[in-house]
Amino acid sequence: MTNDDTHGAILADDSVPGSADGALVELRGAGKSYGNIRALHGVDLTVHPGRVTCVLGDNGAGKSTLIKIVSGLHQHTEGEFLVDGEPVRFSTPREALDRGIATVYQDLATVPLMPVWRNFFLGSEMTKGPWPVRRLDIARMKRTADEELRNMGIVLDDLDQPIGTLSGGQRQSVAIARAVYFGARVLILDEPTAALGVKQSGVVLKYIAAARDRGLGVIFITHNPHHAYMVGDHFSVLRLGTLELSAARSDVSLEELTNHMAGGAELAALKHELAQVRGVDTEGLPEEADLTAPTATPSAPKATTAAPTATGSEGTA
Ligand SMILES: Nc1ncnc2c1ncn2[C@@H]1O[C@H](COP(=O)(O)OP(=O)(O)OP(=O)(O)O)[C@@H](O)[C@H]1O
Ligand SMILES: [Mg+2]
Repeated sequence: MTNDDTHGAILADDSVPGSADGALVELRGAGKSYGNIRALHGVDLTVHPGRVTCVLGDNGAGKSTLIKIVSGLHQHTEGEFLVDGEPVRFSTPREALDRGIATVYQDLATVPLMPVWRNFFLGSEMTKGPWPVRRLDIARMKRTADEELRNMGIVLDDLDQPIGTLSGGQRQSVAIARAVYFGARVLILDEPTAALGVKQSGVVLKYIAAARDRGLGVIFITHNPHHAYMVGDHFSVLRLGTLELSAARSDVSLEELTNHMAGGAELAALKHELAQVRGVDTEGLPEEADLTAPTATPSAPKATTAAPTATGSEGTA
C-alpha cells in the first residue's frame, strides 16, 4: 500500500483487470441497462491506492453511468462490482461514502453565499457544548479548514469569503480537499476541468495529483486526453457503453489517446461524406484503416509495442 512517489511510467505493470491485488475498487464485466437501453456493457476497471484511473469517452459513452454505479447512485445490472475485493451492491451514495468512496460532481453541491469554511463542513458541522445548548464550533471549523486546505497546498486569502467568489478551479480544489479530510479512499471526479480554462484546469490537475500523492485512488472522468495524460496512470476509453481501450500509461502514448478521443474513427468513417461538404477540409483526417486496426481489441491492456514517446513526462502544461 505504499504510494510514495508513485507516479508515471514506473507503474506500468499495475491494474491488470481481474486482479484484486490491492485494488480499492474493481469492476468486472460490469454493465447497466435502463429498461431496455443498455448504457454500459462488459466494463473492467480497477482503482489502486495512489493511482489515477482516467475514464475518457465522448458524450453518451457511458462515463456518468459508470461512476454512478461506483458512487452508489445506480446499481449495476450485469457483472461484478467489488470494493476491497468484496462484491458489493450499494443502494445509496451514503453506503459508498461509508466505504470511503467520495464523488465530486461537476455542479459542486456548494452554497455560493456561504463562506468557504462553512461549505467545507457542510452537512458535517463541528459542534461544541452539551446537547440542549449545542452550538457550531466556528473557530475549530475555520482552523481545521485552513489547515486542511494548506495541507493540500491550497492557499486562500480569506476563508470567510463566500465560496461563490472563488474561481471554478479553486472551488473544485476545496471539494477535493474536503473529500480527503473526510476520509475518502477513492475520489471520483466527474469532468472537473470541463468548464475551466487552461490555467484553472492546471490548478485542478495539481490537486488531483495531491490527492493521489496522499494515497487516494482517483477516478478522473474527462473528455480531454491532454488533461488525462498529465496525471493518469491508467486510461479507459469508453465508446457506446463498452471499453474501447484500457491501457496502462506505459502502453499508450498521448497521441494514441488523442486519436481515440478525437473521434478519429468516426471522422475517418465520415471522411468521404464530409469531403462533399463545401468549406470542410478533410485533408488532415486519418483513413479509417489507420485507426481501427491496432486498438480494436476491447478491454485487454495492450501488451503491444509501446510507442517511444514522452512516457513519464507529465509537466507538459
Ligand atoms: N436514466 C437513464 N435512463 C435511460 N437512459 C439513460 C439514463 N442515463 C443515461 N442513459 C443513456 O445511457 C447512455 C450513456 O449515458 P451517460 O450519461 O453515462 O454518458 P456520458 O459518457 O456520461 O455522457 P456525457 O459526456 O454527455 O456526460 C446514453 O445513451 C444515455 O442516453
Ligand atoms: Mg456524463
